[in-house]
Amino acid sequence: MFAVHLLASYLTKLKEDPIKKVDRFLYHMRLSDETLLEIMARFQAEMEKGLRKDTNPTAAVKMLPTFVRAIPDGSEHGEFLSLDLGGSKFRVSKVQVSEEGKHKVHMESQFYPVTGEITRGNGSQLFEYVADCLADFMEAKDLKQKELPLGFTFSFPYWQTKLDEGVLLSWTKKFKARGVQDTDVVSHLRRALQKHPDLHVDILALVSDTVGTMMTCAYDDPYCEVGVIIGTGSNACYMEDMSNIDLVEGDEGRMCINTEWGAFGDDGVLEDIRTEFDRELDLGSLHPGKQLFEKMISGLYLGELVRLILLKMTRAGLLFGGKASCALHTKDKIETRHVAAMEKYKEGLANTKEILTNLGLEPSEADCAAVQQVCTIVSFRSANLCAAALAAILTRLRENKKLVRLRTTVGVDGTLYKTHPQYPKRLHKVVRKLAPNCDVRFLLSESGSTKGAAMVTAVASRVQAQRKQIDEVLALFQLTRDNLVDVKNRMRAELEYGLKKETHPMATVKMLPTYVCGLPDGTEKGKFLALDLGGTNFRVLLVKFRKGRSSVRMYNKIFAIPLEIMQGTGEELFDHIVQCIADFLDYMGLKGAQLPLGFTFSFPCRQTSIDKGILVEWTKGFKATDCEGEDVVDLLREAIKRRNEFDLDIVALVNDTVGTMMTCAHEDPKCEIGLIAGSTERGVVRMAPELESPMPGPLMPVLLQLGDPQYEKMTSGMYLGEIVRQILIDLTKQGLLFRGHISECLRTRGIFETKFLSQIESDRLALLQVRAILQQLGLDSTCDDSIVVKEVCGAVSRRAAQLCGAGLAAIVQKRREDQGLKHLKITVGVDGTLYKLHPHFSQILQETVKELAPECDVTFMLSEDGSGKGAALITVVAQRFRQLQKEN
Ligand code: BG6
Ligand code: BG6
Ligand code: GLC
Repeated sequence: MFAVHLLASYLTKLKEDPIKKVDRFLYHMRLSDETLLEIMARFQAEMEKGLRKDTNPTAAVKMLPTFVRAIPDGSEHGEFLSLDLGGSKFRVSKVQVSEEGKHKVHMESQFYPVTGEITRGNGSQLFEYVADCLADFMEAKDLKQKELPLGFTFSFPYWQTKLDEGVLLSWTKKFKARGVQDTDVVSHLRRALQKHPDLHVDILALVSDTVGTMMTCAYDDPYCEVGVIIGTGSNACYMEDMSNIDLVEGDEGRMCINTEWGAFGDDGVLEDIRTEFDRELDLGSLHPGKQLFEKMISGLYLGELVRLILLKMTRAGLLFGGKASCALHTKDKIETRHVAAMEKYKEGLANTKEILTNLGLEPSEADCAAVQQVCTIVSFRSANLCAAALAAILTRLRENKKLVRLRTTVGVDGTLYKTHPQYPKRLHKVVRKLAPNCDVRFLLSESGSTKGAAMVTAVASRVQAQRKQIDEVLALFQLTRDNLVDVKNRMRAELEYGLKKETHPMATVKMLPTYVCGLPDGTEKGKFLALDLGGTNFRVLLVKFRKGRSSVRMYNKIFAIPLEIMQGTGEELFDHIVQCIADFLDYMGLKGAQLPLGFTFSFPCRQTSIDKGILVEWTKGFKATDCEGEDVVDLLREAIKRRNEFDLDIVALVNDTVGTMMTCAHEDPKCEIGLIAGSTERGVVRMAPELESPMPGPLMPVLLQLGDPQYEKMTSGMYLGEIVRQILIDLTKQGLLFRGHISECLRTRGIFETKFLSQIESDRLALLQVRAILQQLGLDSTCDDSIVVKEVCGAVSRRAAQLCGAGLAAIVQKRREDQGLKHLKITVGVDGTLYKLHPHFSQILQETVKELAPECDVTFMLSEDGSGKGAALITVVAQRFRQLQKEN
C-alpha cells in the first residue's frame, strides 16, 4: 500500500506544508479511536487465550504465572540482595526493608556495564559475569560474611512453576546468549555462583521487571495492581484471579500474571496495522518475527523506526533535498533519546537541527518540522498501542471484580516513559478514553524494579522460614535404615519373649495361641455360617465348600452396628448380632437351619481352646459393657438361647488375621502368615509355640498381638488419622496452617478416617480435589494448606508402612531361622482397608520387608474374600479335629 509508484503522485501535493506532508506519508501509522478499540478487543481475546490451558500453547501472548500472590502488606522486613538484568542498565543492589510497621526501604546500588559480547555470547559467560559483579558488589559493601537472600529481576519471558525457577522461553531485546533458551536461569546463576564459594547467597525469587515495578509501587500505594514497562522493551503484569488461571492449580486469591505483551501480534493478528517500516525493522532485528508489538512501541526500536522512515522519505525526495547521509543509512544511528529530544516543547526544533546535522544531513527549517512530525507520529503510535493494551487489562480487572467503576493504580517504569516529554500525558489520556469506567492513577516507580523484587524476596524468605518449621516437624516421622533395623531387632526379641512361658506374661507382643492346628487341605465340604465382627463392616456369611480347592461359594450380607449398640450393654450387642443372623437366615431361606458357625472376632482375646476366648479389652470404638473378661463364645451362645429361635453350633472363634491367613492358605499352601493393615493392625504367624499347648500337633498359629500400644498406634489406620490431626493442630498453632485458626472440625477426634487418608494421598488427585476433600471434612484450607496436609499424611503413612514392614521382616526371619534355612520362600496373606485402599502403603511395606529381610522371598497375597471364608475353613478343620478326638 505504500508502494513507491504511488509516492510520485504525492510529490507535488506535499510540497506545501511539511506537517501535512508527513501526515499523509504516514497516514497508516495514525490510529483512529475505532482502530484502538479494535486492538483493545483483540488484546482482551489474546489474554483469554493465553490464560486457558488448551489455547496457551498456541497463544502469542503467554500470560505467564509469576507465583507472586499478593502485593506487599507492610510486614516485609530484612536485608536482601538484588540483581536487575534486562533493561537498559544492569544493577546490583542491597535493599534494607525496615522492621514491621516502619515502612521504610534503604537501597544501595551499583551499575555494571553489559557489553554486546556478553549479551550475545556464551550463556555461561553471561551468568559468570553477573556472579562476578555480585561478588564485586559484596566485597565493596563488606557483605561477604553475611548470608543473604537474593531476588533476581530478570526481564525476559520465562516459564515458572515456582518462584525460584524460570525456564527461558526466548531471549528478547538485545540479548541472545547461547545455551540458555529452554533452561532454568536460576540454575545457571547458582552454577555461576559456585565459582565464588566465599559468597553465601540464597536465590529465592526470580522476578520480571514488570512485577518488580508493580510491587515497588504497591509498597507505597496498596491500590496498585498493574505494572507497566515502557523502556528498552515493553510489557505489563497485573493481578489475575486464580480461578481464571488454568495453568496453575488452585482457585483461591490472585496471582500476578506477566503478560509478555511484547509478543502480541507474533501470530499475525496485527498485520493490518503493521507498516512496511515495521516489517523492515523486524527483518533487521536480532529476533526477526518476534516481539512485533514491542517493536512498534519500545525504546529499543522507536529511533530506528524514525530512521527508516526518514530514509524512505529522503529517497522519495521528500526530505533533505533527496540527499541522505552515510549515517542515515546506518542502522540504529537514530536512538529513542534523540526522538525524545526532538519532541521537546521549546528546544525541540533546535535539538532536531543539531541531531540531523550530527547525522551529516543538511536540514532546512521545513525538514526539521517534518522530522519532528515523524517523531511525533511514531511515538504517539507507541503510546496509543500501549494504551489500548493497558485499557484491555484494566477492563479485565474491572470485570473480574464485577465493578461498574474500578479505582486502581498502575505502576510504570522505563526510560521511554520517563524521558520522553509527552509520552506519559498522551498515554494517560488515551487510556482514560479507552477505559472510561476506570479511575486510574499512574505511579512512576521511583526505585526501579529493585525495591519490588526485594518485597517478593522478603515474602519468599518468610515462606522459606515457615517451610523449615514444617520440615522440622515432619522430620520427626522420618526413619533411617538404622532406625528400622533397630525396630526389626527389637521385634525379633519380643517374639521370643512372648513365646517363652517364663517371659510371656511380661511380653509386650502378646503371641497368643489360637488353637488352630491345621490348614485347609482341599477336602473341605459342607455348609457353614460365619460371622465377621471387628473390621469396618459387620458381616454374616454362608460358605459352601465342595471338594477341591477352588469350589467355594459364599453369600454374605453387611449389617450396620449402630454406635449406641457398640457402646451399650453386652446383652444389647450380642442380641443385635443374633438378630442379624436371624435376618440373614431368613434372607437365605434357611430359617431354623442348624449350621456350624465360625466366629471371626477381631479383638484381643485370650483363647484356651478353639471355641473359647476371653475378651481382653475392646478396641476400635467398641465399648459394650459386661464383655471384657468374659468368654465371647458364651456371650453369643446365651444370646442365641435368649432368642430361642434357632440353634447354632459355634465351633471356632477366630481372629481376622487367622481368618485371612486361612483364606489365603486355601489357595496357596505357602501362606503361613496373615497380616491385617486395616482400621487396626495385627499380624499372625504360624510357628511352633513353646507355650504349653493343650492340643497335639506340631504347629499352631500364634496371634501376635502386635498391639504393643505404641506400635499399633504408629501403624494402624485408625490411629494414623489421629496422628495427622495432632500434627495439623501443632502446625496451626505455629501459624503454619489454616491461617493459624484451629477450627471446631480440627478439634474433632476421628475426622481422618483411613479412607480420607488414602484419598488425600492419591497421586491422581489434583490439589483442588484434595482441597475439596478437606473442605468436605470441614477444614477450610487454601491450596497451600492442602499441599502441607498431603505432606503430613504422607509422612505419617510412610512411617506406618515402614514400621509394619520392619515387624514383618522380624517374623519372616524368625520363620527362616526356625527352619534352619538359608533362604525362605513364604507367602503372607494380607487384608485391611489401609493395605487395600492406601495408594502407597502396600508398596512401602513390601519394599521395607525386602530391604530388611533380604534372605526371604516374601510373596504378598491379598485376601479377596475377607476373613469370613477363613473362619469357615477353620470351622471345618476344627470339626475334623473334634471328630478325631471323639474317635480316639
Ligand atoms: C527499571 C528496572 O527501572 O526499568 C529495569 O529496574 C527495567 O530492570 C527497566 O528493565 C525498564 O526500563 P529500561 O528503559 O531500562 O529498559
Ligand atoms: C476384612 C475382614 O476383610 O478385613 C475383617 O473380613 C477385618 O474381619 C478387616 O477386620 C480388616 O480391615 P479393616 O480395615 O476393615 O479393619
Ligand atoms: C521484554 C521482555 C519482558 C520485559 C520487557 C520490559 O518485552 O520480554 O520480559 O518485561 O521487555 O523490560
